[in-house]
Amino acid sequence: MKKTILTGDRPTGPLHLGHYVGSLQNRVKMQDEYNQFIIIADIQALTDNYNNPMKIRNNILEVVLDYLAVGIDPLKSTIFIQSRIPEIAELTMYFMNLVKLGHLQANPTVKEEMKQKGFEKSIPMGFLTYPVSQAADILAFQATVVPVGIDQLPMIEQTNDIARSFHHLYGDVFERVEAVVAKVSRLPGIDGQMKMGKSLGNAIFLSDSTELIKEKVMSMYTDPKHVRVEDPGNVEGNMVFYYLDIFDPDQEGLQNLKEQYTRGGLGDTVIKLRLFTILEEMISPLRQRRLEFSKDMAYIQKIVEEGTGRARIKVQETMQKVRSAMHIDYFV
Ligand code: TRP
Repeated sequence: MKKTILTGDRPTGPLHLGHYVGSLQNRVKMQDEYNQFIIIADIQALTDNYNNPMKIRNNILEVVLDYLAVGIDPLKSTIFIQSRIPEIAELTMYFMNLVKLGHLQANPTVKEEMKQKGFEKSIPMGFLTYPVSQAADILAFQATVVPVGIDQLPMIEQTNDIARSFHHLYGDVFERVEAVVAKVSRLPGIDGQMKMGKSLGNAIFLSDSTELIKEKVMSMYTDPKHVRVEDPGNVEGNMVFYYLDIFDPDQEGLQNLKEQYTRGGLGDTVIKLRLFTILEEMISPLRQRRLEFSKDMAYIQKIVEEGTGRARIKVQETMQKVRSAMHIDYFV
């Protein structure tokens, strides 16, 4: 039998290059061999956007368009909306009993996000507990494989902890979950910050226009001490070279450029234009496909509706096992 994948995104904005190299490419590759479910995690998105539900609503179909644009095939992968499968919320409640507050407070990804969102003084319960809900997302599908970026590893660990506790208390329902992390698992932002983020203003989106990509690449963080063309420049920490390392198909040519840049005599504009050309070549077919799909939004809507229906059936199967293991299967 095919193994099951559960992976997905919060619908808080369109997807960017970081998503592309961090997990989307893996999902496209893996959809042939795995039974892949892709969650549009609107409940999780609400945990830090509860005051702005329209933002989430408006981004759901945008994210689906991004999936289709990169090559996720709705015949091979099941795309669904988290909140439309209430059994996931039910499972979250059972899992809450298996997790200690201190463990949630120690989650490094949650800690970083708390800082970012100004939640340090007072944290909404929904946000603090989203790793429990994420464990339910994964285990509701009895998934064993989760392709994600490296920042999601604490969530997978939490998922396995919960599965283990469940096993001790109630019996054997869930298998061990394994994260699949891409080679480039965390892409820094164009400003040189550690992480490219939707809300950080440092992302190149898969749906950006040619002009916008150019503008963003031309504004990328390089070496602030490299002022004139003839000055020696620093390749380390230089975002243009960081991206070229990942995206440039001509790695040998790139080595020569790096040497020249380090010696002095190579301007930022030259390397930026090289990166722009490479990114534009990669993104323009995605943009084209996205445009084609966006002409029929009723079809996009249908993909998610049908996907959610299929996904719910799978979750209902799991929930029968869960309720039976927990002796709460009062009526079947
Ligand atoms: N936490 C993920 C993100 O921020 C989204 C997500 C929700 C997810 N549930 C998931 C990812 C289950 C993998 C598996 O992008």
